[in-house]
Amino acid sequence: MTTKTAPRLKPSETLDTGLSSKARRSVADHLKILLADTYVLLIKTHVYHWNVVGPLFVPLHELTEKHYNDLFAATDELAERIRALGVKAPLSFAEFLERTNVEEETRNRSELEMVESLIDAHENLSRHFRDAAKGADEAEDLVTVDLITRRLAFHEKAIWMLRATVGK
Ligand SMILES: [Fe+2]
Repeated sequence: MTTKTAPRLKPSETLDTGLSSKARRSVADHLKILLADTYVLLIKTHVYHWNVVGPLFVPLHELTEKHYNDLFAATDELAERIRALGVKAPLSFAEFLERTNVEEETRNRSELEMVESLIDAHENLSRHFRDAAKGADEAEDLVTVDLITRRLAFHEKAIWMLRATVGK
């Protein structure tokens, strides 16, 4: 009696999409930093949403809600791009903190300090996304370039809106 063996899928390292495994790993490494940056900024935005007090409470409470929803959706998109490149996504928040240079909040801030801190973080992320775009472009990873371009547009718009909220 002959037994049929199920066809075996190739390991993800041998994906044949026109991107070499070296290019995919390199782009995924950049994406892991962008994912970590985005997650830590998401938390910072969310805790400011809860804790903001003062005359700007309503506009900042509403703007931070829009921003944390967008940032949460972005974490999913970034992690899923890493997976589509054949690389495992990070497993823990500790790993995010190792990879990012966005600082977690540790004390209560005035509303202006919150806006300043968010603008700093969005500028920091914009620089990281712009750098990563160069690597993805060199690797001819058009999907990642598109994703990064959309994320850059979000961060630059967020900076404008945060500045405008405090009249700058
Ligand atoms: Fe809320």
